Amino acid sequence: MLTDITAARDGALADIEVAATLDDIAALTSRLLGKKGDLAQIKTRLGQLESIDEKKSAGQAINDAMSAVSSALDDRRAVLAADALSARVEAERLDLTEYVGKPTRGHAHLVTQAWERLEDVFIGLGFQVAEGPEVETDWHNFEALNMGEGHPARGEFDTLFVDHVTPDGKVGTTLLRTHTSPVQIRTMIESEPPIYIVAPGRVFRRDTPDATHMPVFHQIEGLVIDRDITMADLAGTIEAFTKAFFGSDFTSRLRPSYFPFTEPSAEFDIQRPDGSWIELGGCGMVHPNVLRAGGLDPEEWSGFAFGFGIDRMAKERHGVEDIRDMYTNDIRFLEQFS
Ligand code: DAH
Repeated sequence: MLTDITAARDGALADIEVAATLDDIAALTSRLLGKKGDLAQIKTRLGQLESIDEKKSAGQAINDAMSAVSSALDDRRAVLAADALSARVEAERLDLTEYVGKPTRGHAHLVTQAWERLEDVFIGLGFQVAEGPEVETDWHNFEALNMGEGHPARGEFDTLFVDHVTPDGKVGTTLLRTHTSPVQIRTMIESEPPIYIVAPGRVFRRDTPDATHMPVFHQIEGLVIDRDITMADLAGTIEAFTKAFFGSDFTSRLRPSYFPFTEPSAEFDIQRPDGSWIELGGCGMVHPNVLRAGGLDPEEWSGFAFGFGIDRMAKERHGVEDIRDMYTNDIRFLEQFS
């Protein structure tokens, strides 16, 4: 009987050894350890043995064989379970890396670079940086800048209005600012002269994008308020800025023009070393009505203001042909301005 037990055990262990899946193990477990298993069958024959000693040692041998088979099943089950897990993990693995050649460093957008350099240059000329909200009141954007209701100049600003109901139920006149000039008003109201500020920021107009227009663009506004400020201070500041920003071989000129918020008004152009001109922006002496709207006495204070488009300036400076290229975020375009 002992030989039968050994044979049954070894056969079972050999089967377990070659089990390839967890299902195989499950089948083997019931076959080898169940009532119909070889060892269980041998056990039923114990009664046929003559002596107590023989029964004892055969019973002991069957128990030992059973636990050897049982722990072999456990071991094999553990190995197959670990294999199954790593196979599943491997199958479900996602390759999230993308090889794009050598890693590249990002850089600020062309317009951001221009914006930051403008701030640096004006800070160098003694200006401070101011800002105002992009959603403005009609009063700050037009009225206080000497463009009352019905003023024809309002028509030149294709304004985007914002539906807005004030807490007391009135329909407010709120809009997306069409220029950075309302920051002049806010600065005059909020601070005491002397004032030397520039205000770069985002502005909005109801324009269809084309090679020279975007409905969202950027301007920088300048405002100086002090005693005895003259047109000569304005011209000198524009010239100093031109040389500091563009280079010492660039110059500037003022051309008579009209803006409601300045009197007299001018447009200013920058001349490249090759003699060609860049039309940059508008400027002038702050209109007395604007000083009054800002809470200042025009008899005591005078000042000048200027404003120009940052995107347009960057476009001119770098010879970008279509302003839309600056906003489509094509990496091949952007990379040229690192
Ligand atoms: N706000 C004007 C515009 O958007 C630009 C401008 C002109 C600003 C003359 C000024 C100025 O401060 O004095 O067209």
